[in-house]
Amino acid sequence: MTFEKIITKHFDDPKLYTLKGYLSCGGYEGLKRARKKEPQEIIDTIRASKLRGLGGAGFPTGVKWGFLPKKPGEKRYLCVNADEGEPGTFKDRYLMSHSPHQLLEGITIACRALEIDTCYIYCRYEFRYLFDRFNQAIADAKKEGFLDNLEIHLHHGAGAYICGEETALLESIEGKKGFPRPKPPFPAIKGLFGKPTVINNVETVMFLPSILVNGPEWFLKKGVETAGGNRVLAVSGHVKNPGCYEVPLSISLKNVIFEICGGMKDDKPLKAVIPGGASAPILKADEIDVGIDFDSLAKAGTMAGSGAVMVFNEETCMVRVVHNLIHFFSDESCGQCTPCREGTTWLKKIIYGIEKGEGSESDLDLLLRITGQMSAKTICALADGAIGPVRSGVEKFRDDFIKHIREKRCSWPKWSWRGN
Ligand SMILES: Cc1cc2nc3c(=O)[nH]c(=O)nc-3n(C[C@H](O)[C@H](O)[C@H](O)COP(=O)(O)O)c2cc1C
Ligand code: SF4
Repeated sequence: MTFEKIITKHFDDPKLYTLKGYLSCGGYEGLKRARKKEPQEIIDTIRASKLRGLGGAGFPTGVKWGFLPKKPGEKRYLCVNADEGEPGTFKDRYLMSHSPHQLLEGITIACRALEIDTCYIYCRYEFRYLFDRFNQAIADAKKEGFLDNLEIHLHHGAGAYICGEETALLESIEGKKGFPRPKPPFPAIKGLFGKPTVINNVETVMFLPSILVNGPEWFLKKGVETAGGNRVLAVSGHVKNPGCYEVPLSISLKNVIFEICGGMKDDKPLKAVIPGGASAPILKADEIDVGIDFDSLAKAGTMAGSGAVMVFNEETCMVRVVHNLIHFFSDESCGQCTPCREGTTWLKKIIYGIEKGEGSESDLDLLLRITGQMSAKTICALADGAIGPVRSGVEKFRDDFIKHIREKRCSWPKWSWRGN
């Protein structure tokens, strides 16, 4: 399939990460265009491009920017979310390591638009191998005058998934425990250190230079009706060629797996796909002829989320998959909300029992009832994310659960619970 890449267009150039390499590929051209525009014009350009946030929720970036109050001279912040803790997601570290200047250019454009002079890049500490490269990029860009008068802090995350949630991220930067804040007030009104703040994902920010260079109509034309541009997917699991791929938003999930990734590993039949990170409800093999954009996946009862596509073949035990995911969410719940803290713990315990061969058929209704008690009742979206794989797993792969319960064991030998 032929289409034009946008943010990974020059990723074959091994020197792209240097300032010289980036400039030779047309780098900082978007910033030059932004410098000729008024801040509001840049916001309008981004709004017209229909760029949607690529960290998970898909909120339109220009609209989010428009929520910042217009108070000239007031301190405000930009935070770039480079925490990337959602299981299966590995696109941001790939983008940052290949093209740090593209992120810096995007940051400078965003800060010009929003009249911000301080930016925090909240980077997961496991990505420490990127820190030297990034600090060098910041120093080089500053020396050559590409960062205006911006102060950029590369803040090291402390390794908790919840710190990727935007308000927990703010708490963490402030030196506190990563506990999400109740909203409202939203960060645009009361964010970092109590000041208006915009939080955007790495990939979202990296699309900004191309929009300034080519215009919003060009960007919009590349995407679908409700979202402009391409997106970068991180594909893992039982495909021939797993990895990060920039793809057009109009492509189907089926084509991602069978064209872009070369099909199923060892040509084994497909059983299930998680299309947007661990929080996304699971799709069955016959449900993948669906667009990868936010709205198409939402209509299919799942979500585009963080762009992490996880592919499972027919030899996969879905009880094991769901147990693995709920174990993660239960460990990572910050514990502030009872439905999340208790709900994830009980879901994990019950599914673990089923996995070990100690479950009963009534457990399946109990699991669904618990998920009903957790939905839309908590401070942040972790609880809703946690119920996605459980509910869809029990509803769509009920046969796997029943088999476990009736045979009192896992009949997929290589997936068996250790000790069974
Ligand atoms: C539990 C949880 C973890 C999250 N982790 C991340 C993350 O690692 N990176 C990210 O960009 N967004 C993450 N998000 C989404 C952020 O809260 C926020 O919506 C996003 O950073 C906004 O950027 P965007 O508008 O550019 O997508 C997470 C959300 C939740 C509820
Ligand atoms: S939903 Fe879970 S992770 Fe989010 S604030 Fe409540 S307890 Fe913490």
